[in-house]
Formats: sequence, structure tokens, C-alpha cells
Amino acid sequence: MNSPTELASPIAVDVYRARRERVLAALRARGGGVAIVPTAPEVMRNRDTDYPFRHDSYFYYLTGFTEPEATLVLDASAPPGEPASILFCRDKNVERETWEGFRFGPEAARDAFGFDDAFPVDTLDEEMPRLIADKPALHYALGTSADLDAQVRAWLAAVRAQSRSGVRAPAKAENLLPVLDEMRLVKDPHEIAIMRRAASISAEAHRRAMRACRPGMREYEIEAELLYTFRRHGAQAPAYGSIVAAGANACVLHYPAGNTIARDGDLILIDAACELDGYASDITRTFPASGRFTSSQRELYDIVLAAQTAAVDATRAGVTFDVPHQAALKVLSQGLLDTRILDKAKFGSVDDVLAQRAYARFYMHRTGHWIGMDVHDAGEYREADGPLDEQGARPWRTLVPGMALTIEPGLYVRAAEDVPEKYWNIGIRIEDDAIVTQSGCELLTREVPVAADEIEALMRESNADRS
Ligand code: GLY
Ligand code: MN
Ligand code: MN
Repeated sequence: MNSPTELASPIAVDVYRARRERVLAALRARGGGVAIVPTAPEVMRNRDTDYPFRHDSYFYYLTGFTEPEATLVLDASAPPGEPASILFCRDKNVERETWEGFRFGPEAARDAFGFDDAFPVDTLDEEMPRLIADKPALHYALGTSADLDAQVRAWLAAVRAQSRSGVRAPAKAENLLPVLDEMRLVKDPHEIAIMRRAASISAEAHRRAMRACRPGMREYEIEAELLYTFRRHGAQAPAYGSIVAAGANACVLHYPAGNTIARDGDLILIDAACELDGYASDITRTFPASGRFTSSQRELYDIVLAAQTAAVDATRAGVTFDVPHQAALKVLSQGLLDTRILDKAKFGSVDDVLAQRAYARFYMHRTGHWIGMDVHDAGEYREADGPLDEQGARPWRTLVPGMALTIEPGLYVRAAEDVPEKYWNIGIRIEDDAIVTQSGCELLTREVPVAADEIEALMRESNADRS
């Protein structure tokens, strides 16, 4: 929760105000109306204990405000000079602040975050019918929250109850999220600066985990090294549940860190990264518990790394979202044939493997996703129109500078009779975060080694330190 004493950096008031202005301008261009953006609800875990509160990303994007129980109202039909950007938030309350900590209260929040006006959140039901009366439309996240839908219904009912005095309720409701998603998809310099810092902390966490790893350690002990580093550098939380998978566990895509012992000869797959000031990072590295890849691990590792390099090289403004994935698939498919994990007698060429999706048994996810405030960030992957392909899908959207995405190919080889035994139970993924640029992409997460030789060198250093 941000309070004047807790903030690491000053509130970027102008950044949030400019985003609100962009939304207001977009809504005015559609004929005006009132946008409603609540933050996330607090959720009780049991008795007096809540799940850790995490603000709603859309709300935070437009406000920078991290307290619970808050709603942003943007009135795109406000006459010039009247408040257009209004915050509802918790009132000051000496007793509650003694238990739970600092609250801005409406007045200070208005001044600190640059709103035109602010009210106590418990006046929402009183103020909203007034704010939406005689406005042409409502804009909110339609159908995403039963609570919000019910609140809107009650506010509309309150306005309609005044219809005898000539007051009109908004005639339509529109989904606000596409407007916000398009904005969120292209990161501005303020966001990219935070994402770089988040990436840097996560990279350090991976280096620390690699250095700490020894055969005989349990997965949760390795996870502890990651979590320590996140918090040590001020990251508020992991951006998603940390995956620390020893040996065959790496073939389970969403395996959480458990208590399996990492044995000499095992690979460890770590997919873990922090959230810093509302922004996610997302890194995967795979390394040998002993510090030395076996020859079959190294063979597969180098195939996945070559696939990642191909995808990175293919990531640039002007190509579609699918191009890096196709580049990775080609390299992985060739690797599956070269290693005879896929039978050359059945699949003669890379084109056959691709056409029959034979790779999917060993590579069952896509090569990337948008990343930003949410680890799987907002934004469409396909154009809203355009010709349908054979699967009935619209064209992939084209990358533009400022988009942020992960590049994360992998290979997951389970034990199976038709697969050479030396590859059984090897799971490898390599994941970095990229910002699209005009001529290519900037990788945010390369402060952690990725080449097998470099990983071995880092682990050798740490083994030497201990002996
Ligand atoms: N850690 C989630 C993902 O890689 O997509
Ligand atoms: Mn990812
Ligand atoms: Mn990941």
C-alpha cells in the first residue's frame, strides 16, 4: 500500500493523468458517457485473515493508487470545467489506520494523484446516480464481476426512479476493456523502466538459485533463494506461482515448487519471477543440479536455445505475433528429427512434422504471451477483423514498438517406448522477456546466463567458492 513514507519513488501523477485523458478522449470520440473502473475486491481467506490484496491492473494503470475499496469514475460528458476524473476511496479513519496502516483519504488522494475530485467510497451509491443521470452511456468491464453488474443495476434503478422529474438513465452500456487493452498493449517509457527493474531483480534471483543449487537440495529450498532475492530488492511478490521442478517434474508444465530432492544428474527447471510496483517479469532457466549437463541434456538444451535464438531474431515491429513461434517450431522440429525423438521413417522432413503438428507431443504451448502488469497481460492476439484462416481464426496481429512479450520455447520428453531412453524425463524451457523495437527486440532478462557453457561456468564458480 503506498503511503507518503513508504513510496520508493514519487507518484508519477502526470503519467496516470495523461492515461485518464486518453481514455476520456476516446470516450468523447464515441459520444461520451461515464466510465467506471473499480479496483479489485478484498477476499477473505479465513476468519480475520484476507488473501494478500493486489489492486486491479486496469484501475492501477489509470490511477497509480493501490489502496483497496476504491473506484475511478471518468465522466466523458462532463461540461468543460466540471470534474471529469473522480476517485472514490476510503475515508481517513484513525482507528482503522491504527490496525491496518495509512489511508490517503479522498482529499489527499485527489491532490497526490491528480484527480479533479474525490469522495469517500461509502458515498458511491449516493453519488453515482447523480453522476450517470442524463449521460448517454456507461462504459465498464461488462459481465466480469457480479458485484459490479449489481451495483450498476442499482444505480440505473435509482436514476430511473427519478424519471418523472425528466431525468434520463444512460441508454447503453459498452465494454470499456477493449479501449484499455489497446493502451496496455503498447508499453510507455514509464512502464518499460519498471519492467527493466523487475527483470533485473528476477535475473539476480535466478543467478542466486543457480549458485545455491547442489544435489541433495529440495525444490522448496531452491525456491527460497528466489523469494529471498525478490523481497530483498523490494519486489512486492512473485508475479505468479514459482515453478521449481527437479528431474521428471520439469515435464509437468505448471508444476509448483515441491519437496522433491534434486539429484546428481537431474536438470532443474525454474520458471519464477517477481512483480515490482505492479509490473510482472517472467523468466525460465533450466540447469543441471550438479553444474554439468549430461550429453543428452546438452543436446536438447542446445536445440531449445537455438529455437529461442531463432524466435528472438524473428521478433521485430512489422511481423505478426505468430512469426517468432513459427521460427521456434521449425528449429524444434528439426531437433526432434535429428535426435530421432521423432521417427524419420514416419516424418521425413520438418515440413511433415509441422504439417502434422507432431512436435506437439513434446512442445505443447506457444512460444510467448504478452507481459506487463499481468504476467499473461491484457491485449488481443488476433486482429478484430480480416479474413478467417482454415481454423476459422482472424489474422494474428502485427507487432509494433513498445509491445512486451515473452519468448519461451521448450521441449518436454516423457518416458515412452518409441522415444530414445537417453532423453526420457528431460524437460527444458528457456524464457526471456522482450520489448519490441523497430529493428528487433530488447531482451530485459539476460542478466542471467542462458548459454549452457555460461551456466556451467557460473555454477563452477560457486562450487569453487564452497570447496
Ligand atoms: N510463468 C508463466 C508462463 O511462463 O507463462
Ligand atoms: Mn511466460
Ligand atoms: Mn514463465
